[in-house]
Amino acid sequence: MEKPVFDQNFRMQFEELLKWRRDVRSFRNDEVDPQLTERLIALATLAPSVGYSQPWRFVLVESAECRESIRANFELCNRQALDAYSGEKAQLYAKLKLAGLRDAPVHLAVFLNQQTECGSGLGRMTMPETLEYSAILAVHTLWLAARSYGLGVGWVSILDPAKVNTSLNLPEEWKLIAYLCIGYPQEEHPSPELLRNGWEVKLPASDILIRR
Ligand SMILES: Cc1cc2nc3c(=O)[nH]c(=O)nc-3n(C[C@H](O)[C@H](O)[C@H](O)COP(=O)(O)O)c2cc1C
Repeated sequence: MEKPVFDQNFRMQFEELLKWRRDVRSFRNDEVDPQLTERLIALATLAPSVGYSQPWRFVLVESAECRESIRANFELCNRQALDAYSGEKAQLYAKLKLAGLRDAPVHLAVFLNQQTECGSGLGRMTMPETLEYSAILAVHTLWLAARSYGLGVGWVSILDPAKVNTSLNLPEEWKLIAYLCIGYPQEEHPSPELLRNGWEVKLPASDILIRR
């Protein structure tokens, strides 16, 4: 395989990709080519993983029954989350769209196989949580790859994970990492929706970089 050259033009494009990635909750109803979905999953598996454990497992949620069960799970958890807020924050929370479960053409659940023997434990004796980090990196890799194809990804975590395993008939040991809604976005923005809706502000660089 010939060694690629990442030139300045590529770097500028890559920066644009990072800036325009977005968490997407509103999708057009155009289908996503199933081969493209499989390609995204293949690209996600290029992510780093502790000890090359490759602990990620991808579940395409296609049946109406499974999707309805996930939607019901979200609705309940979202109502409970709303109850945890009061005053203006509660009013704002109630207005936010926090999942595109109804309109996203592709539902992809990413799990961690905690029992994986791949990697023989290398790198995670002292930090077992690195197995989870590995699966999360696969999600982020898929997120960026999807965006490069004009697709949007929305991460839904307002779910009871144990119920997700039951709905999808998966082993208890598989830990839900991300439930992803994937499709072509209705809108494209260079800033997060929660920032635009006044839920949170961007932290100044001085708050996130510490020197010792
Ligand atoms: C681990 C994780 C879980 C998230 N869960 C949700 C969710 O349940 N609902 C939602 O609307 N957004 C969810 N998001 C998206 C974040 O709200 C979003 O990334 C953040 O507001 C920044 O916006 P951006 O991704 O468009 O830059 C999640 C993101 C991450 C990384």
